[in-house]
Amino acid sequence: MTFSASEIRQEFPALARVIHGKPLAYLDSGASAQRHISVIEAVNDYERNYHANVHRGVHTLSEEATALYEGARARIVKFLGAKSSREIIFTRGTTEAINLVAQSYARPLLKINDEILITHLEHHANIVPWQMVCEQTGAKLVVVPMDSQGEIHLEAAIALMGSRTRMFACAHVSNALGTVLPIQKLVEAAKARGITTLIDGAQAIAHFPVNVQALGCDFYVFSGHKMFAPTGTGVLYGREALLESMPPWQGGGDMILTVSFTKTTYNGLPNKFEAGTPNISGVIGLGAAVDFLNGLDRAAAHAHETALLDHATDRLRKIPGLEFIGTATNKASLVSFLVKGVHPHDLGTVLNDEGIAIRAGHHCAMPVMEYFKVPATARASFAFYNTLEEIDRLGGAIEHAVKIFS
Ligand code: ALA
Repeated sequence: MTFSASEIRQEFPALARVIHGKPLAYLDSGASAQRHISVIEAVNDYERNYHANVHRGVHTLSEEATALYEGARARIVKFLGAKSSREIIFTRGTTEAINLVAQSYARPLLKINDEILITHLEHHANIVPWQMVCEQTGAKLVVVPMDSQGEIHLEAAIALMGSRTRMFACAHVSNALGTVLPIQKLVEAAKARGITTLIDGAQAIAHFPVNVQALGCDFYVFSGHKMFAPTGTGVLYGREALLESMPPWQGGGDMILTVSFTKTTYNGLPNKFEAGTPNISGVIGLGAAVDFLNGLDRAAAHAHETALLDHATDRLRKIPGLEFIGTATNKASLVSFLVKGVHPHDLGTVLNDEGIAIRAGHHCAMPVMEYFKVPATARASFAFYNTLEEIDRLGGAIEHAVKIFS
């Protein structure tokens, strides 16, 4: 297998767009990655030829749709190194997966003054569901502090893992800063203290392989749309024994065995947690994204992303008045920054005029913004389909914006 960014990007139709007369430089994959052609075609093929409801029909289309949907689950089992399809629950995305765990796993377990440990750099999706369950149960949210580089230290986390800590939930990679957390060690430390672990892999899954058994976590969650698959798809991996012990979260069709007005019995895993008709076409697209990633030299793709990050760091550092927010030693391929005299939203608009797509805002991580005492940052996030030339264009366009606003 060989890897070439200029070749692989041909397989992402949207990257051929021209925006304001300039070739699109899509530097917002952290918000949502572009769709690989195989994903688009798998969804299209399903919609044209195979659509029917899953798990319900005796007719051919329903059987075919079910085979495609469950085929995607089988792919995810292997992709994550899970033990069986009983451990893979399809959700709407990372957010729904975390809410499911908060309500179905944590809520029945938590008592007054129990603690849920998270870190300072979490996305709102890994803060708010825990705050909600704390309000419901009287448990407390405890936060591992972050340092000025945007790093989370093992010792700081261990210091807060106490006898009341029931759950440790943390990001694999920070969406606002790019920090890669030492999750292997964090999970080991939590496990050694009998604390249940959830890893938010939304920003990791497209960047490097994840093996949940090697990691040893109890739950691992991610969204399809950050790994080149459709929106409205996501995965909750959970250790079977835990999922088995949890009550259903949402009630409805497909999650039951029998229903009467006096008693309902529930389906087994994974269906127990998939109430209602799922996002069938999206999940089939997610399966295609897994096939695509499996066919890629992921080590080479990751090396290219590292080169993009290094190049962006060197190029942007040369711009007077530009300050990086988040300078962790171990970072995924994104840069978050401020430019003196140019509001991030204005910068985003000027860059868009140059055909360059970045994200500007608080990145759904307001506590991170509060820590750095900024309302927002500009963020360029890369995937392996980006090129060094696109980063040079980013550098030049930022310099252009500085001139406009000075
Ligand atoms: N969570 C996504 C981001 O980081 C939307 O941009």
